[in-house]
Amino acid sequence: MILPVTLYGDPVLRKVTPDIDKDYPNLDALIENMFETMYHAEGVGLAAPQVGLNIRLFVADATVLADEDPQLKDFKKAVINPQIIERNDELESMEEGCLSIPGIREDVSRPTKIRIQYYDENWNFHDETYDGFAARVIQHEYDHLDGKMFVDHCSMLRKRFLKGKLTNIAKGKIRVPYQVRPPRK
Ligand code: NI
Repeated sequence: MILPVTLYGDPVLRKVTPDIDKDYPNLDALIENMFETMYHAEGVGLAAPQVGLNIRLFVADATVLADEDPQLKDFKKAVINPQIIERNDELESMEEGCLSIPGIREDVSRPTKIRIQYYDENWNFHDETYDGFAARVIQHEYDHLDGKMFVDHCSMLRKRFLKGKLTNIAKGKIRVPYQVRPPRK
């Protein structure tokens, strides 16, 4: 089932998410729906707040980019209760977009390598290190779980340029080729 995507300005996108436990209701169906929603919107990652849920979960699938980056061949995962426990000092800038901020793409500088601990959809624990595009996708989605969005990383000047566009998104004055949740106060 395709879920409506929350847009910039929705308060759920600004909350720090709490962990979930194994009793969380219908988790398998939720994860399946989040993948379906992400594929439908042609995204490579989707965090629970983007479907209106204040919980510590995201899905990602960048296997479509495996031709350019062989490391992404198996990069499809549900990530539950993640903690990034290490980030390297080296930064790299790359253009990012977000299904909750349609029509805006900006360069974002992030650490090139991270170490993350999380549980998968079968509640198996993982302790893994990522670099390249996978590290970028993880950090972008992880930000969502801490109430942050990629435009927060932009310079004051860029933010000023983007202000009008962001206001329009928050007011729902934008055409989006996938289902979105109407803006809330
Ligand atoms: Ni995003």
